[in-house]
Amino acid sequence: MNGDHTQLTANEQRGLVTFIAIGCTTCHTGAPVGGLLYKKLGDYEPFPTADIGRFAVTGRAADKYVFKVPSLRNVAKTGPYLHDGKIKTLDEMVRIMARYQLGKAVTDAQVTDIVAFLNALTGDIPTTYIAQPQLPANGPNTPRPKRVN
Ligand code: HEC
Repeated sequence: MNGDHTQLTANEQRGLVTFIAIGCTTCHTGAPVGGLLYKKLGDYEPFPTADIGRFAVTGRAADKYVFKVPSLRNVAKTGPYLHDGKIKTLDEMVRIMARYQLGKAVTDAQVTDIVAFLNALTGDIPTTYIAQPQLPANGPNTPRPKRVN
């Protein structure tokens, strides 16, 4: 992220180049490689899932099948994947994302490279980042998503 490409092996670098070139960074963006946006799962082609996503909270039609774009930092350690944990491997995840989010065909070699790049996002997470947050007590002034219906 600081531009020191020597931190990545040749195939991890190829994976990063493909990750950017085919458009994964449209959604998995910024230093956390995601975690900054809400986006529709099945943006290009409807994704088979029983969960209607953020629509259940906001009631807004535009929020149907919208989920938080997860950060991909340490993603190799955070499976199984997606909101329902139904996807077991990163290999499957890359193929699903290419097809349903981008409408793009990826070769086996590209999948292998992207998975190598995703594995390179593994590191030590600062303990302050994963510490349990101290939340104020729930009450009438607690912010809630605004429902439209
Ligand atoms: C249009 C936005 C969008 C694009 C483009 C996109 N993703 Fe995603 N990605 C998402 C969303 C939203 C989720 C979470 C969906 C859910 O929870 O069901 C996700 C989930 C993932 C996950 C699972 C993470 C987890 O912890 O469950 C991986 C891995 C992933 N994406 C990799 C990629 C790769 C690789 C590409 C490029 C081929 C890509 N994504 C392109 C929006 C996108």
